[in-house]
Amino acid sequence: MATRSRRVEIDRVEVEKSCRKETKNMSVNRYNNIVTISPEASIGDAIATLINTSSFVLQVAGEGDKPAGWLDYLDILKIFQGDPDAAPIRSRKVKDYIHMIGNEDYLEVEQELAGIKTWLQDRAKKLPYFISQDKQSSGVLSLEGLLAEALEKHTQEQERRLEIEDLFGIVIAEAPVGLAFISPAGDIKYLNPLAAHILEITRLNASDLINIAVKNETKIIRTNGRSYKVWGIKSGKEKAPGYLAIFVDITNEQDLFEKVKHAQLEAELALATLLPDQRVEARLRSIVEYMDEYDAGTGKIKVTGVIREGVYRHVINILRLVAELSKQGLTELPGVDKETVVKAAIFHDLAKVQPYLQPGDVVDPRESFEPGYLHAFRSASLAKGIYNIDDKTVSIIKYHHHEEHDLPEDYPLYLLPMYRLFRLLDGLSAGITRRGSRVKLTASGTLVHVREESSFPLYNRHFELDLYSGRTGIKPLL
Ligand SMILES: [Fe+2]
Ligand SMILES: [Fe+2]
Repeated sequence: MATRSRRVEIDRVEVEKSCRKETKNMSVNRYNNIVTISPEASIGDAIATLINTSSFVLQVAGEGDKPAGWLDYLDILKIFQGDPDAAPIRSRKVKDYIHMIGNEDYLEVEQELAGIKTWLQDRAKKLPYFISQDKQSSGVLSLEGLLAEALEKHTQEQERRLEIEDLFGIVIAEAPVGLAFISPAGDIKYLNPLAAHILEITRLNASDLINIAVKNETKIIRTNGRSYKVWGIKSGKEKAPGYLAIFVDITNEQDLFEKVKHAQLEAELALATLLPDQRVEARLRSIVEYMDEYDAGTGKIKVTGVIREGVYRHVINILRLVAELSKQGLTELPGVDKETVVKAAIFHDLAKVQPYLQPGDVVDPRESFEPGYLHAFRSASLAKGIYNIDDKTVSIIKYHHHEEHDLPEDYPLYLLPMYRLFRLLDGLSAGITRRGSRVKLTASGTLVHVREESSFPLYNRHFELDLYSGRTGIKPLL
């Protein structure tokens, strides 16, 4: 709090300094010089000087450089008023001297000061007589009144500004983020208590923070058992050039992330124990998957990433989905056998062969990737010939890339629910593995309810599949 108060105090001084500077730099002069006449000059000369200089007052010269005093138009009028010889002049009619109201005399006096200032400037040295358009108000502007109003406004605005600065200071000081502002020369101009604390324990200095901002980096710093995220922004403001460094304590999020990662690893280890031997595991781990972008115009794909151990992850993700549905009782349905689906998951892509591609490669997928049914047949053969997998599982593996209408005529009908379920899980796991999709499955009787959300909204899906009839019902995405 002491830091904040000190800062606010510094800011007050700066505001006051800048106000003084503003006054000095103002283009409007605070006074106009007036003409000096000799005390020996005649009243006629004085009148002529007033008229020629459009002035209302004259300075009267004295000894040396020192003026003796002043004389204004009222003093001259008084001379005429008191002199009996001036009676003929006094008897003249006002109507012979009147200024008729012109366009330049109109002014809405209740408007903002800025408008009145412009009106006055436009009138140059003419008397500030005004009249409103509706003739409701007229008169001569009061310099004292206008000045008092301007000063009042200025004071109010200054108070409001200081109040906002105080509030801003409190918010920044108490904010759960650390903030530091660094000048281009590397001086720390502002530091809230949290930023001060983090800088102290992380030993970061001003040039580290400028570097982070210039390189547009985000750094995670771990120290004293806590984690902090730091990033910076270059200020584009002409009046406040520099860098803003932002610190956030992400210890809790980081701990949670580590816990989830650990739980995920444990779950994976548990699922991996289902694999029959190390050779199967090694084979699955050796097959990559690719992330890509499809160009509908050319029919080609651009490789955007390589997922190491892609098929292994894909199998684990299918097993996870099986476990989720099994928990909901789906594998108690006649014709849906958990053990068969698990075995099919383990072996179905075992003989998959992927091309060697690099991120950035653009290829025609029909040329670079072999048709899916080839690895399905090979995998089925390996499962049967080497691992003595039963015929039901082998049939599911063998036809996992076949559409239902392309299945051989003698495909056993009783296998269709599992075939449909397996193809569903295979596809969903591909989305999880290759596109980071989130999948929510709900089993109800023979129905599997699916909600898939991908980081590519184009792939979002919401539907139901009836495992017995094969019917699919599309649901609204919301
Ligand atoms: Fe496959
Ligand atoms: Fe697969």
